[in-house]
Amino acid sequence: MDRTQLMTSISADWESFSKLEIAEKLPYFTRNEKIYDCLFAQQLDRGRLEHLFRTADALRKMTKTREGMNIANSLLSHKRAMLYFVQPSTRTFLSFLNACHILGIKTSEIRDTTTSSEVKGETPEDAVRTFSSYVDMIIMRHPAPGFVEKTAWLMNRTDRPVPIINGGSGKDQHPTQALLDAYTLYKSFDGEIDGKTIAMVGDLKRGRTVRSLSYLMKNYKGVKLAFVSPKQFRMENDILEFLRRHNIPFIETEDFGSVMGEADAIYMTRIQDEHDKAGESKAVDYSPFYFKKEHLGAIKKDCVILHPLPRRFEIDPAVDEDRRAIYWRQERNGMWVRAALMAHIFGVDSAIAHE
Ligand code: NCD
Repeated sequence: MDRTQLMTSISADWESFSKLEIAEKLPYFTRNEKIYDCLFAQQLDRGRLEHLFRTADALRKMTKTREGMNIANSLLSHKRAMLYFVQPSTRTFLSFLNACHILGIKTSEIRDTTTSSEVKGETPEDAVRTFSSYVDMIIMRHPAPGFVEKTAWLMNRTDRPVPIINGGSGKDQHPTQALLDAYTLYKSFDGEIDGKTIAMVGDLKRGRTVRSLSYLMKNYKGVKLAFVSPKQFRMENDILEFLRRHNIPFIETEDFGSVMGEADAIYMTRIQDEHDKAGESKAVDYSPFYFKKEHLGAIKKDCVILHPLPRRFEIDPAVDEDRRAIYWRQERNGMWVRAALMAHIFGVDSAIAHE
């Protein structure tokens, strides 16, 4: 079946398309065996991850000199991207913006629906279609789960599709955060994520970063996961089912102390109380899920501590000075690996490897 036939056969209407299994949807978001729309962590298989990590490393190395930076800046200087971030964002927005600038991509942005024609009643779908008239790529963060995917589906049906990158979709997914988290683990463990024990701590129910990162774990052999959360905010069943299907062992516990000493990586998260409908968070004592300075003595000597940030109280700032606290490096890694992803989508990754 050629691409056009595939598109028409599987994309008839959004309702039926949205119900398909991820594996059935992926061809629709892929071109020439490469990611076209980056929407789900499930799109990132091991070969692709390692390719992106190597591209990010090569780009970092290449841009250390002015000459190298000038070459990088010219790679995609004929492209324009739109950042449509209508949910609060600091790191994801800035790292994408600066990743675009490294590659020479020109950028425009909307960060608030009150400054777009959506206030006049234009649908978000029409708004996004309008952006695509002016740019070559849309990077977006949206509060509604599934909206980024719907946008990509819609764009692929027009005569001027542009790649869509998911910078966070509701409580659902944050694939490029998982990408940078895995890149950070890869760099911290000298390329060996296989066999590691990773503890994810906090609001696992509503945190999209831990959901996307869990999906990525299917790429590694012998990884064990420990989910540490208050009982109200346990990891959702769809993720637990996914892990069972892929034979990835996991435990669930409320006792942070019981897993601290075993973990090779501790991934802390913030309580996601912006999703509260009935003040659920107020009823929860979150303090047993804080990483305190005294815990530094209880973790392995080469355990790494990650956090997607922003943090509130989950990690005592006194922990920042410890060499095992790598969240500041993690956020910087995001810029490089997001640049690598865009270079891949636009097909200039081989030029980076060549340099
Ligand atoms: C995360 C997010 O937005 O999901 N932040 C980020 O992208 N670095 C995590 C969070 O807000 O807690």
